[in-house]
Amino acid sequence: MTIKEIFDTMSYGPAPESNAEALDWLARRDRRFGHFINGSFTTPDAVFDTKNPATGTLLAQVSQGSAATVDAAVAAARRAQPKWARLPGHKRAQYLYALARLVQKHARLLAVLETMDNGKPIRESRDIDLPLVARHFYYHAGLAQLAPSELPGMEPLGVCGAVIPWNFPLLMLAWKVAPALAAGNTVVLKPAEYTPLTALLFADISREAGLPPGVLNIVTGDGDTGAALVAHPGVDKIAFTGSTAVGKAIRRATAGTAKALTLELGGKSPYIVFDDADIDSAVEGLVDAIWFNGGQVCCAGSRLLVQEGVADRFHARLKRRMDGLRIGDPLDKCIDVGAVVDPVQLATITRLVDASDGEKYTADTPLPQGCFYPPTLITGLSAASTLMQEEIFGPVLVSMTFRTPAEAVELANNTRYGLAATVWTENVNLALDIAPKLRAGVVWVNGTNMFDAAAGFGGVRESGFGREGGWEGLLAYLRPKGKAAALKPVAPMPAPKSATVDTLDRTAKLFIGGKQARPDGGYSTPVYSAKGALLGHVGLGNRKDIRNAVEAAQAAKGWARSTAHTRAQILFYIAENLSARAEEFAARIKAQTGSSGTAEVEAAVARLFTYAAWADKFDGAVKSVPLRGVALAMNEPCGVIGALCPDEAPLLGLISVMAPAIAMGNTCVLVPSHPFPLSATDFYQVLETSDLPAGVVNIVTGPHTDLAKPLAGHMDIDAVWSFSSSDISQMIEAESATNLKRTWVNNTRARDWFAPDAEGRAFLRHATAVKTVWVPYGE
Ligand code: NAI
Repeated sequence: MTIKEIFDTMSYGPAPESNAEALDWLARRDRRFGHFINGSFTTPDAVFDTKNPATGTLLAQVSQGSAATVDAAVAAARRAQPKWARLPGHKRAQYLYALARLVQKHARLLAVLETMDNGKPIRESRDIDLPLVARHFYYHAGLAQLAPSELPGMEPLGVCGAVIPWNFPLLMLAWKVAPALAAGNTVVLKPAEYTPLTALLFADISREAGLPPGVLNIVTGDGDTGAALVAHPGVDKIAFTGSTAVGKAIRRATAGTAKALTLELGGKSPYIVFDDADIDSAVEGLVDAIWFNGGQVCCAGSRLLVQEGVADRFHARLKRRMDGLRIGDPLDKCIDVGAVVDPVQLATITRLVDASDGEKYTADTPLPQGCFYPPTLITGLSAASTLMQEEIFGPVLVSMTFRTPAEAVELANNTRYGLAATVWTENVNLALDIAPKLRAGVVWVNGTNMFDAAAGFGGVRESGFGREGGWEGLLAYLRPKGKAAALKPVAPMPAPKSATVDTLDRTAKLFIGGKQARPDGGYSTPVYSAKGALLGHVGLGNRKDIRNAVEAAQAAKGWARSTAHTRAQILFYIAENLSARAEEFAARIKAQTGSSGTAEVEAAVARLFTYAAWADKFDGAVKSVPLRGVALAMNEPCGVIGALCPDEAPLLGLISVMAPAIAMGNTCVLVPSHPFPLSATDFYQVLETSDLPAGVVNIVTGPHTDLAKPLAGHMDIDAVWSFSSSDISQMIEAESATNLKRTWVNNTRARDWFAPDAEGRAFLRHATAVKTVWVPYGE
């Protein structure tokens, strides 16, 4: 027999992992679970089944949490929070370290239980999920230790509600619980209804670690339980991972509540293979990208884009590799693809694939009976077809070809999502040229599915906002210390009985695309001085003006590619030109508000200097990940920022918002102070003489209450900020759900625009999104 013949005839024998310990743990619990509240389990109530998807057998019954259950859990978390927050960072670090050690100690039991509940191969739960869970607690033990000294001006948010999906039940728990606890928050977590068991085992482990009662609470149940947690007024933050549809519902439900929110949602991540790629490695990477966890992964490389010249060869090798995949009992250590989480999900995958008219290739490999779906490749689809656009969330890959790098980028970005992307090429220059052009929160170069607690993970566009992991992830669980006072509405100066009228018509226009523009509606409104003199008129912008301004801002996006040095120079130049007209601007502020404007102009010039300084100093980072390679954390601009500027500080407020936005490479649409708009309309004359490219800053005057809605609902705006004195925060956050743009609103809380904290890192963080680019080393 030749060696080849031996290899060809060798088949795998079964290598089952024992489930005895897990069954024993379930039996000790009578296979019935209550919720974990205030350090102990409640009596099981209104139970529902959780099954092993690979066998269809009942594993246990868990309780459906009601609004009253959520209330009890939030109350326990609230009681425990002040004491937990007061602990020295070192004490919290010790608890997190204990959790990390206990996760390692019970790793096998947790992995087996995860596989039984979810259907994922034991190889994945044992070798990927569990080590990452432990790593997350270790890393955050470190952050707990360092946060008080490294982030002195920050405090925890309070009680955090976490709602997680079924694809990585324990890992998602770790991603939410570890940073929340490290920062001094307490938690109420709702696991997914299909996969609640490892969270309940983790609750047991938290008792073993001596975690004080109420610091971690777990309420099981379905979407209604999740919705009750989201709606609970005692919750200060919601951290959600799951579908985009539910993410949008949560955005609307939390609008105007002042709850912090991070959303990690779906994706349709491109997997780009250039013709110079190491094809065998790229095929192997693709197996990991789309068949890891049966494709039930938010960042799955589910959209193959392969360069035309190598497409046939690539598809042929891929099909051969697909035929070699082994599907079956997830507890078998030799299995590549396990079960789909639930028959409902299986039906969704089947429906989506059956409705597609693409060419389907199904792996030629035995398919067991039950909740399994075969690895599938679909070609011949158009870029707009449903399967190219929608998340299938199963072991199904769609593929298209491209000719040039530019076309690859265009196709890759042709999606409403923006979670992850993979690039394969042996040309590092090409890879690093492409990575910044991809609209995604994570880019993997010549590798895929690389994760680590030190590196931020999260999306842009409809994949959500916020990062998990790294310092950037911790910041999502903190806020600046202290509570701001309420901001009183600032009204325009009333029209006097008889105004002093100048004979000249002074109607300030809007500023769109570098030009002064008449308002589309043709209306304007008078502006009176504190003493009753008519100072002039300003245009009343409307929805169409906002649309035109957004178009101009989109067209000016080349600004993001200008060097930071160029942006710094222009900001310095704006400051210089404003400074030259300081007296005139001060007089204008005095005329509008009745108070001296000298200090405000001085502060505005200084603020421009601050952001000219920051433009080339808000550095990214190289993360210390356990990899031979680098994980680069790059601060990228959000895109187009729409901002409702402060009413009370007409010049300083506008500049405080504009300068960080443009310093970081964003373009913007600004709605200036409504009662005192003339400082803004004077200011665009300064912009016109300062070499700022047209469209980078656009100014639309008008009432904030009218303009907030079209701004917040616009599909081509990436972030919206409001520092208005009008009560519009709720409306802005609700409208922002249309495309899940990031929001930063004041909830009508005051801010002192002269204070040191009215500038700096907080503004820069809101003006940027961290993109993590992973580049492994080696041949
Ligand atoms: P889902 O988004 O409905 O569920 C995720 C979590 O949210 C679960 O814990 C669920 O109980 C909870 N939930 C559901 N409705 C809620 C509401 N109104 N308020 C608060 N919490 C709520 O995801 P589902 O139904 O399990 O899967 C549906 C599709 O979503 C999948 O086919 C897949 O395409 C996508 N999905 C994406 C995930 C990702 O990580 N990107 C994870 C899970 C699902």
